[in-house]
Amino acid sequence: MNSFVLAPSLLAGNHATLAGSLAAVESAGLGWVHLDIMDGHFVPNLSFGPQTLADLRPHSPLFFDTHLMLSEPHRYIGVFARAGAQRISIHVEPDYPHLETLREIRALGLSAGIALNPDTPVERAYPFLEEVDLVLVMTVHPGFGGQAFIPETLDKIKQLAAWRHKTGATWRIEADGGVTVKTGLECRRAGADTLVVGTSFFKAPDKAAFIADISI
Ligand code: DX5
Ligand code: ZN
Repeated sequence: MNSFVLAPSLLAGNHATLAGSLAAVESAGLGWVHLDIMDGHFVPNLSFGPQTLADLRPHSPLFFDTHLMLSEPHRYIGVFARAGAQRISIHVEPDYPHLETLREIRALGLSAGIALNPDTPVERAYPFLEEVDLVLVMTVHPGFGGQAFIPETLDKIKQLAAWRHKTGATWRIEADGGVTVKTGLECRRAGADTLVVGTSFFKAPDKAAFIADISI
């Protein structure tokens, strides 16, 4: 069974002090940070790019869990790898060579993830499950932090967990969006072992208490 991992999303921190946000994650005792990359096309928002990762990289030993919300992610794998990404997750929805892209991520020595939007059936990920280390289940519509969790996505987590159990696979199941202590525990009960926490982490007045409550 995979260990439980919490990955705070830098999107929810103050973008004037991104290195400070990394330091907050580290001083909370966590090992991963989630980096949301948006192109204004696959999702209706823009965030930051490879230069930001490259500049942050020397500031932190945190694992860079990178989520590409891009229409053409295959064009940017090398650049994010060189910038210091350690996992790259790509979405199943846009039209591009998914398998080749996942293989390129792994050939570069990185961990690969496949991501599903809330309305995308789990079956769309099945052709790629032997090529990935993580399946990212969007639990809000991608593009913005601070949205309300969509409860219907719990069934997709359950379906993936059942498939993982049946096949003996070891990929992680990561829930991303609207994760609070309450919805995070629901995701974990459904079978998620990895939780992205944006707003709920950065706005928590007592981060140690938040981590303790969600790690039960
Ligand atoms: C949304 C991003 C999420 C987001 C999570 O498009 O993929 O990672 O930052 O933020 P919260 O936890 O605030 O929903
Ligand atoms: Zn994300």
